[in-house]
Amino acid sequence: MTRWLFLPCSTRPDGNTLALARAAAAHLPAGAQAHWFDLATPPLPRFADLRARGGHVAPKGRLAELAAATLAADELVIVSPVYWYGLAGPGHEMLDHWSGWLEVPGMEFAGRMRGKRLWLVTVRADPAQGSQAPLEDAMRRSARWMGLRFG
Ligand SMILES: Cc1cc2nc3c(=O)[nH]c(=O)nc-3n(C[C@H](O)[C@H](O)[C@H](O)COP(=O)(O)O)c2cc1C
Repeated sequence: MTRWLFLPCSTRPDGNTLALARAAAAHLPAGAQAHWFDLATPPLPRFADLRARGGHVAPKGRLAELAAATLAADELVIVSPVYWYGLAGPGHEMLDHWSGWLEVPGMEFAGRMRGKRLWLVTVRADPAQGSQAPLEDAMRRSARWMGLRFG
């Protein structure tokens, strides 16, 4: 059984990215199990870089739920519109929290993430060819940096 975790980031309900991701989820291979975790509603707690202020501690509450769902997944699908040539805020907030989790003693976030695959489902309004490229590139580089494959 392959666990797919879809991570919607749009700040409006039932938008285009969600429609596209739902269509993709309807065509997952046999044996796939789809899970969803909305990053926008309710919003994730704001990230703070605590490395120089006592260090990061294990996630709690909604962040703990997100961390557990993330670590349980084989395939992570960021479902984000292009916002200002990049990732929508809620998706960015999640990646910022990944940075914190990398620092949590005993969490082994880096090692447990390695080998998973990161996907991007995105939409945009700008018809200009390649205007999604900065977002794609950021996700590809982020995946590589984390030891993830990119889809
Ligand atoms: C804050 C904001 C920034 C946006 N920036 C871009 C952009 O840089 N390039 C683009 O093509 N579309 C941009 N858009 C348009 C969205 O990508 C488009 O409306 C998309 O359908 C929104 O996704 P959703 O329908 O899932 O909410 C932006 C929209 C918003 C609200």
